[in-house]
Amino acid sequence: MSKQRFPLIAANWKMNLLRTEAEQLVASIVNNGPYNAEVAFAPPFLYIPRVGEIIESNSGFFLAAQNCSNHNFGAYTGEVAAAMLSDCKVSMVILGHSERRSIFNESDEWINKKLIAAIDHELIPILCCGEDLEQRNSNRHREVVGQQLERCLSGISADKLQKLVIAYEPVWAIGTGLTARPEQAQEMHAFIRSKLERFHPGPLASGTRILYGGSVKPQNAAELLECNDIDGALVGGASLNADDFTGILRAL
Ligand code: PGA
Repeated sequence: MSKQRFPLIAANWKMNLLRTEAEQLVASIVNNGPYNAEVAFAPPFLYIPRVGEIIESNSGFFLAAQNCSNHNFGAYTGEVAAAMLSDCKVSMVILGHSERRSIFNESDEWINKKLIAAIDHELIPILCCGEDLEQRNSNRHREVVGQQLERCLSGISADKLQKLVIAYEPVWAIGTGLTARPEQAQEMHAFIRSKLERFHPGPLASGTRILYGGSVKPQNAAELLECNDIDGALVGGASLNADDFTGILRAL
């Protein structure tokens, strides 16, 4: 079925790869293109300018960051401001990834401030949400994800969210090899869209791209990506290997 939303496949490298490995990986993916999707690379901050050079003249490829500060300039040692990312040609930023939430204690309120900072600096936020295994097993996944969205998007008007991307990533599927079944993922994506519609009645919900993340591989990509409300993928482990990542891109 054709969808009105153009797919986005985003590579979340996390804290992996040395510089030359990163260069080779991006070059090989870019050279194998074009693809039927927008492709975003989210390397560690240090590699952003170099990855940007490699993708520069190829349309359809975008630079993303894995995080940004909720503050603008100032005395915030170790932080990177949204303004700096924009200034270095970054166009998207992953926010609220479950690793940021669980390892670095990022709260929904904090993520909300980051979202506002990102949007204020023309970055497209890829807002992550998802339940853990205990929450899924106790049938609280909808409640948990609904609450994350409500808090993270609080106070942000629909016109500022025009380019928002949401990534549904069940925590129990991230890096575990367990993937949500297509019907489980589709059900949550439809739920997320209905929540957006509830927060902002109008065209926003139907135009928002909702990515699935959690052990996406070439073997399971097609069945996930063909679901009505799945508009792409946020890929961790499989984005570190050119064959695996292009295999996912070719599944579209
Ligand atoms: P995974 O990671 O593909 O390795 O499960 C996805 C993510 O963390 O974004």
